[in-house]
Amino acid sequence: MHLLDDVRAQFPILTDRKIDDARLVYLDSGNTSQKPQRVIDAMSEFMATSYAPINRSSYRLAGEATEAYERGRQAIARLINAPSADEVIFTKNATEAMNLVAMSWGRANLAAGDVVVLTEMEHHANIVPWQMLAQERGIDIRWIGVTADGQLDLSNIDELLDGAKVLSFTAMSNVLGTMPPTKQLCAAAHAVGALAVVDACQFVPHNVTDVQAWDADLVAFSSHKMCGPTGIGMLWGKMEILDAMPPFLGGGNMIDTVTFDGFTTAPVPAKFEAGTPPIVEAVGLAAAVEFLEELGMANVRRHEMQLTRYALDTLKGRFGDDIKIYGPDNVEIRGGVFSFAFRDLHPHDVSQVLDESNVCVRAGHHCAKPLMKALGVHATTRASVYLYNDESDIDALADGLAGASDIFGF
Ligand SMILES: Cc1ncc(COP(=O)(O)O)c(C=O)c1O
Repeated sequence: MHLLDDVRAQFPILTDRKIDDARLVYLDSGNTSQKPQRVIDAMSEFMATSYAPINRSSYRLAGEATEAYERGRQAIARLINAPSADEVIFTKNATEAMNLVAMSWGRANLAAGDVVVLTEMEHHANIVPWQMLAQERGIDIRWIGVTADGQLDLSNIDELLDGAKVLSFTAMSNVLGTMPPTKQLCAAAHAVGALAVVDACQFVPHNVTDVQAWDADLVAFSSHKMCGPTGIGMLWGKMEILDAMPPFLGGGNMIDTVTFDGFTTAPVPAKFEAGTPPIVEAVGLAAAVEFLEELGMANVRRHEMQLTRYALDTLKGRFGDDIKIYGPDNVEIRGGVFSFAFRDLHPHDVSQVLDESNVCVRAGHHCAKPLMKALGVHATTRASVYLYNDESDIDALADGLAGASDIFGF
């Protein structure tokens, strides 16, 4: 029996959807998560009964819609222990949140020769915006390396951070599952006067998150990986930092006033929410957060740690040297993302064969091409678990891999 035993039943796609008369074995939550019925219901009910513009119109229905939208912001603030909901900015996704950081804070604070430190295990969302800034104004990027067991190599961190203006890093690798020491890294950034930016896209859906305990400055993540809808992401930041940042996108909603000569900005968070925001999505997101709160993020983490241990033991036990799983073996410092090489089969072939038994995994570079290069591979197969997965899903993955061996004649 699992603590989260009745969870799967709340996800209609996992119970009702069949392909070739068989259930889905969804192991691609690192990519995007499935949605519980209550999130689907919250969004359709809002559209059916309460939909209206927010912030613009004074009739009661619009007031109700504004409150519903703001409930999404309050839910996120609770989930990450933010001091104030006003510090939560809604974006399109985590990628837009990272672009906001680089293009707003970066443009205002970085000049040619300034140093931004990243890690080799970053998703492209935390690389390309900084590289765009490097092209635009000649900042330098330094890279924290990765050890053989998939952890950050912090042996030369003082040297790398020397004179740096920004340290931007992932709280959990989407390829290796590794969870770097976030609090320690934020402190190291602050010790040299650098901004500490955290890509928490893979972390927040699976862990208790406390941005105040981290003492991070800016934190980005996405709704769609944590049971919420697509189309909405978050940037949390310390108010004094957000307050000093110039707007990223201009238009309606983000202004205080506009004249023929110019404009003044609205206070945070509206300053960063130009145009009509993702209203229905914020309602779905609030429902997703309430669902996660009821489960308890500590319980989610415990469940996934057990499942991660089971997966590592099962795959290594059944396939020995025929499987190479990247990332640390210690489940205390990793989450349930398993990138692997299987025999010398191409990851796309592996994923295609797994699909024959409805096992959904991702194959490719996982938007982490520099990490692929550091690992010396072009691609991996990646299985990733979430709160609705259990041992039977891992067994199905292992059976599917055994089937791949047969098909390819091993
Ligand atoms: C670590 C990490 N950062 C950023 C992102 C980008 O998220 P989104 O596609 O929601 O913008 C992802 C998505 O896979 C991710 O895994």
